[in-house]
Amino acid sequence: MTTLLELEDVTAFYGPVQVLDGVSLAVPEGGAVGILGANGAGKTTTLRAISGTVRAGGRIRFDGKDIRGMRPDLVAGVGIAHVPEGRGTLGSLTVRENLRIGAYRRKDRKGVEADIEYCLELFPNLKERYRSHGSALSGGEQQMLAVARAVMAKPRLMLLDEASLGLAPSTAKNVYDAIARLRRESGISMLVVEQNANLAFRLVDTATVLETGRNALTGTSAELKGMDEIRRAYLGG
Ligand SMILES: Nc1ncnc2c1ncn2[C@@H]1O[C@H](COP(=O)(O)OP(=O)(O)OP(=O)(O)O)[C@@H](O)[C@H]1O
Ligand SMILES: [Mg+2]
Repeated sequence: MTTLLELEDVTAFYGPVQVLDGVSLAVPEGGAVGILGANGAGKTTTLRAISGTVRAGGRIRFDGKDIRGMRPDLVAGVGIAHVPEGRGTLGSLTVRENLRIGAYRRKDRKGVEADIEYCLELFPNLKERYRSHGSALSGGEQQMLAVARAVMAKPRLMLLDEASLGLAPSTAKNVYDAIARLRRESGISMLVVEQNANLAFRLVDTATVLETGRNALTGTSAELKGMDEIRRAYLGG
């Protein structure tokens, strides 16, 4: 498989404080890779380094091109959609309007209509709420909308940050099942930040564990699931 996204020795600072200290990872074309780690380990910052919303050192390549330091709108333009922690959907706009905003760069009107239909099939809750404002949605529905809005950009790579955060277990599972279906059907590559490793392992092929801004462990989902330290720290036993 060819590598779509590659990070080598990535560093990042907030003011004088270094929070990434040499993060490396690779997402193959069509693959899904997880980033696990405790609060404050640097998971969100790693995604921000990729999407250009925090300044980073090291090397970040997408489809063979250097994207480190590129403006966020240009990163989005090369085909990377970031579903941020906290979702970032627009509460004053309806579901329909949020989906259209996701597609704002696209000129293929028929393709946009077809993708709206696809999103509503993937997330039937959104179909029922199509004319509702984002602020009227439940947490689960807002998360679905955030993912669907990213789909509307027709990305090659999706960055997902804690899609399960604050959701009831059954809702979180629904959201992850839909994302797994999206992955199978669309072939979109995914880089998935998750504290709930049980959910992450349903979706990703491989994962890396970050500890204080560094890779502590990297392996396949099966390898990591079998490790005592992963079970104790992330799988509740
Ligand atoms: N805007 C900011 N300004 C200063 N420090 C920050 C900022 N954002 C994050 N940090 C710090 O950087 C470190 C890494 O944060 P980051 O948000 O990347 O962690 P995380 O792994 O996503 O954690 P969580 O699981 O809590 O979301 C933490 O120590 C955090 O306190
Ligand atoms: Mg985070």
